[in-house]
This record gives sequence, structure tokens and C-alpha cells, in this order.
Amino acid sequence: MRTTFIALVALLGLCSAAVLQHKLIFRESQKIQMMRRGEWGAYVQHKEALRDANPAVYANVPQNVNDYGDFEYLGNITIGTPPQPFLVVLDTGSANLWVPGPNCDGSCVGKRIFDSQKSTTFQIDGKPWSIQYGSGNAKGYLGQDTVAFGAATEKQLPVPKTTFGIATHISADFKSDAAEGILGLAFTSLAVDHVVPPLINAINQGILDQPIFTVWLEHKGSANNVGGGVFTYGALDTTNCGDIIAYQPLSSATYYQFVASGFKLGSYSITKNYQVISDTGTSFIGGPKAVIAGLADALGATYHSDDQSYYLPCATAKGTLDVTIGSNVYSIKPVNYIVDVGMGDTCIFAAFAFNNFGFGPSWILGDPFIRQYCNVHDIGQQRMGFAPSLQAST
Ligand SMILES: *[C@@H]1O[C@H](CO)[C@@H](O)[C@H](O)[C@H]1NC(C)=O
Repeated sequence: MRTTFIALVALLGLCSAAVLQHKLIFRESQKIQMMRRGEWGAYVQHKEALRDANPAVYANVPQNVNDYGDFEYLGNITIGTPPQPFLVVLDTGSANLWVPGPNCDGSCVGKRIFDSQKSTTFQIDGKPWSIQYGSGNAKGYLGQDTVAFGAATEKQLPVPKTTFGIATHISADFKSDAAEGILGLAFTSLAVDHVVPPLINAINQGILDQPIFTVWLEHKGSANNVGGGVFTYGALDTTNCGDIIAYQPLSSATYYQFVASGFKLGSYSITKNYQVISDTGTSFIGGPKAVIAGLADALGATYHSDDQSYYLPCATAKGTLDVTIGSNVYSIKPVNYIVDVGMGDTCIFAAFAFNNFGFGPSWILGDPFIRQYCNVHDIGQQRMGFAPSLQAST
């Protein structure tokens, strides 16, 4: 009897350890869409005006980290019992989940809202939360419910008792976007109000097979609302990623932050230890102004101050953008760091000067880097693993 019981417990233990392959949806970032429509310059000016007019509000908002216009990779989740569906940004550069709520003002029009009264597993928390973005804030109150990664029609990863934000107001530039909320995948220490993020909550409850998740971002060009890669929670992704080249210890478990020791493109190179973060929520690569200018120069790209972007002829021969991490050099191919924004023969260098005001990371390795290399977020051992993406066109 006792052995049967132990065997049963062991069996249940095995069954409860989960792996989920969460398919992503890609659509061009608002930033690239605005560039395509010739509206990006005006938007940049608008954001600068907001910053200048409200210095206290924006003082602690690093430019471009967590900037709304940068999101490209979305995923389906459900919240509650029975499940209510949402399309959210899967963002490794932040750590809170929020979706629109029933008391949301006009800013949420057109989006699905979470109706807690229709969920039998909902528990109110009620504490207020607020997150500042580049062009306004999102705010609301907290609640707790089952959050499941994946769409209700697919295999899901349910995480019971997950605390999340129910928005009563969302940032202005969220309104026009297909995404309904943001799901942050970074550490609790980065989360506003230190609310435990959904995936960390899953790990804390022993729901995942291994305390890791692997990100494979597909290169999609300008196609929209198409499959865009896979997040694998609880395991490596051996289908879309090659063998791990190396692991790099996290220097800070807030963001997925580590040290990179050099950057090189053509005739330009710099060797220096930099704090960098991997961030699926940033569509470009951000770095110190002088270094970005050096890289752009080596590429023959010219800076346009009105929209703070680097333009170059699409046809120029380009080498790889090389990033040294530990004892390895990771080479990003032009297909991943040059964006054709539909301006004839003119393309954009997917990089921006990023001022961290002397604190936090000084580089953001955004989607161009992650499309080239699968990123293994080893939360248990606080390290990042990098593996080649097996997508043919990268
Ligand atoms: C994911 O959500 C989008 C938007 O609501 C929907 O069109 C799509 O069918 C969903 N995917 C799945 C697999 O249900």
C-alpha cells in the first residue's frame, strides 16, 4: 500500500513538471511601422517634449528600456476560470503582467478586458500599481488568478495564484496597438511593487521541468501577424536552436544582465567591459552614443537628428556586428541588424544611442541579437546560454 502511494506521488510529481512551447506572433514594432509611414520623427519629438515638460515623472525612466514602441513579439495567454483570452507582449526586459480591466477609461477602447466577476478562481488584492512608459503610464490595481501561457485552444501552462495588474488606464501609444497588455519575464526584483512575475511564480511552485526558458525569435522581415518564433518554458529548444556555445553568469538578476567585453563592425572596434541586457521587448540594439556612432560610421550610415536614426543605402556591403561575451564572439548578420523600412534604396541601422544616465545597463541587446542567437534564460543557475538559431535565413 505504502509503495503504491509513493509510486503514485512520484508519478504525479512527474506529470506536474511541465514544458510548454509557446508560439509567438510577430508584427513590426510601432517604431518601424511609424518609420515606414514617415511618422517616427514627429513621435520622437513628441516623447522628448513630454520628458522636458515632466522631468520628475520621467527621471527614473531610462530612455528606450521598456519603451512601448519597441515591442514586436506577442503571445496568447488566458486569465481566470473559465479562461479569458488576451494577446500580450512577451517582454524579457520587464517583470510585470497587466491587462485591461473593466474600470478602464477610454484609453482601453477596442481591447478585451478582464472581467473578474466571471472568474471562479479570482481573488482581489486591490493594491494600486503604475508603470511609466516613454509616452505616458499604465496604472490600475492588483488581483490574483490563474494565468495560463498559450491560447485556450492549444496546450497551456497554467500558473495558479498569479498576481497581475488590472488596468484602469493605459499609456497613450498603447491604444492603437493590437497588444492588450504586457507580460514581463524578468526577475521579481525588477518588478514594480515586487509582484512575483508569472513565470517566476511557476518556478517557485515547481511547475516547470527545469527553472529555465529558451527564446527563439524568428526573422520575419516586414510580414505582420505571422508566426514569429517560440518561447520554451522549462526546457531547451532543440528544434530551433543548435548546441549551446557558452553560458555567461548574470551580473545582476533583475534584467537578464551580464558583461559583454567588446563590440566590432568593419574597421571599428572597442574593447571594454559593459553591463548589457538581453531584451525581447526592444526591437533594436541600444548602446553608448559614441560607440553606436562609431559602428554606424564603419557601416557608412548617416545620423538623422530629427528622428534619431541611422540611414544607409540598402545595397552597401556589410560585415557582421560582433559582440564578445566571455571568451566567445557572437556575430550578428546584416539580415538581423539592417531594417528595410520601405524607403526605396534607404535602409535603417537597427541601433540607437542609449543614455543610461550612469546607472543600470549600458547596452540593450534587443531582437537583432536574439534573432541570431537563441537565448537560454537559466533562472535557477542565474546565467544566460547562447546557441545558434537554426532558422535558415539567419
Ligand atoms: C491568439 O490570439 C489572436 C488574437 O486574439 C487570435 O487571432 C489567434 O487565433 C490566437 N491563437 C490561437 C492559437 O488561438
